[in-house]
Amino acid sequence: MKHQTHTCPQECHSHVDHVVVPAEKIAVRVAELADQINRIYQGEQLTILAVMTGSLVFLADLVRYLHVMVRVEVTSVRSYPDDATRSLGPRFRLPPADGVAGRHVLLLDDILDSGATLKLLLETVEAMGPASLRSCVLLQKSRPDLPDRVQADFVCLDIDDDFVVGYGLDFNNLYRNLPDICLLKRDVFSSGGGPAT
Ligand code: IMP
Ligand code: MG
Repeated sequence: MKHQTHTCPQECHSHVDHVVVPAEKIAVRVAELADQINRIYQGEQLTILAVMTGSLVFLADLVRYLHVMVRVEVTSVRSYPDDATRSLGPRFRLPPADGVAGRHVLLLDDILDSGATLKLLLETVEAMGPASLRSCVLLQKSRPDLPDRVQADFVCLDIDDDFVVGYGLDFNNLYRNLPDICLLKRDVFSSGGGPAT
């Protein structure tokens, strides 16, 4: 079967208002970012701790440009753990302690918006005793209203403060398969639902 990079199913494409970052630009930036990461971790073994599910596509692309020795661990965030009916704040499904303790950990997330998730996750992982801890996000949203927001060590792309989907990012756990980062049509939002993590 011929590999098709830039086609996507008609059903999801018809929900897109416009492309915010095209796949070609994402690919260039991911490769540049990988160069930076290769330089910083030269001679080290790197553990990438990826926040699921939004960083799935970013993770898959980034690791293939890395030349250093890489381990991959995953974590995920649940705002409504188990049978809770009220949000108890974010809770993380963490990797085993020996996947983090004493290792050079790079936390990989999809979007830095308010920064609340990244801040809490950094504190949680730091408490597990990594040899070093840095953070990397695919997208950093412009939030001049939050001057004290937590900062990521590596940022792939800066975007405006709009809700975007594609390249792993979802609305209601949909649209992750779009190759570009896109803005959805207004009526898609008004049909209800919210983003899955
Ligand atoms: P923060 O804690 O406010 O920084 O929220 C970050 C998380 O919210 C991200 O990891 C995403 O899961 C979700 N999120 C924020 N903005 C978007 C968006 O534009 N599209 C999809 N998910 C988003
Ligand atoms: Mg997320």
